[in-house]
Amino acid sequence: MSWKVLITARGIQTAGEQAQELLRKAGCEIIFPSKFGPLKADELTHALAGMDAVLASLDDYSAPVLSAAGPLKIIARWGVGYDSVDVAAATRNGILVTYTPGLLDDAVADYTFALLLGVARRVHEAQAAMERGEWRNYWGDDVGGKTLGIFGFGRIGQAVARRAAGFNMRVLAHTPHPSPEIKGVEFVSLETLLEESDFVSLHAALTSSTRGLIGEPQLRRMKRGAYLINTARGALVDETALVRALREKWIAGAALDVFAVEPLPAESELRSAPNILLSPHQSSYARGTGERVSLAAARGIVDLMQGKKPGNLLNPEVFAAPQLRARLRE
Ligand code: DGY
Repeated sequence: MSWKVLITARGIQTAGEQAQELLRKAGCEIIFPSKFGPLKADELTHALAGMDAVLASLDDYSAPVLSAAGPLKIIARWGVGYDSVDVAAATRNGILVTYTPGLLDDAVADYTFALLLGVARRVHEAQAAMERGEWRNYWGDDVGGKTLGIFGFGRIGQAVARRAAGFNMRVLAHTPHPSPEIKGVEFVSLETLLEESDFVSLHAALTSSTRGLIGEPQLRRMKRGAYLINTARGALVDETALVRALREKWIAGAALDVFAVEPLPAESELRSAPNILLSPHQSSYARGTGERVSLAAARGIVDLMQGKKPGNLLNPEVFAAPQLRARLRE
């Protein structure tokens, strides 16, 4: 048996040697799209034609794409967020969806701190000045001993809190599921978190209730000297309001790795907003982490191909569904 596996997760090219080997040894033909995405619905529909599996970036796996996806049996998400996949539609179409929780918490938490330190201490501005041949100092803000507010307190939020302890920070967290047994973290309302934090870092999944959660009222509630850090999903933040907040100095700065539309359009006003540090959705791009994530995603595909139930399934009920069983026999 040979499966055609589309790989839209660009990370696999740099950190996916073992994953590619695993797929090839199992008899898969690997296909890369003509361009990396995330792919839009029409591009993805085209790229998925005839594919048995996809090792997926944040492409648009919406209902119309999935119902046109012919022999597709599994979407293996390279990563932990699955807001780009309509899981209910995948289930209706007999397509399994897997993801890779727990593998990239440290990489994302490290990167969150890189952004936090970078924007607070203006490292990017100093670098740009050095490149221009200048020698000047940039005054930033203290980090050690300050208050960090973590919105969303799952595995990644908790990994960020552990790092904050090393910086002797006061840690506030807002989550629908507080864990009072976790020492050194105060669980507070969103309002208190916004009002008392010097750094607000977002670590929540994108859902209908978190979309646009940080808008004008929330930005105005933050301290004037505070920074917003986002390594979760761009659409958690109203970007137009954020540009105003930076221009009008409602807050001191922002560091963003994620955007409502990715790639971030060249004309986005975020690119020229003051006191902002931007990067192209790369918080999980650390080589060792990338290899582990790639391998876990690839293993799910190979498991299914060999008739085994993949781990980290978002819709396990599909594994026994007649629709998928019939496809597996094709
Ligand atoms: C994730 O894990 O969802 C990251 O955003 C990378 O895709």
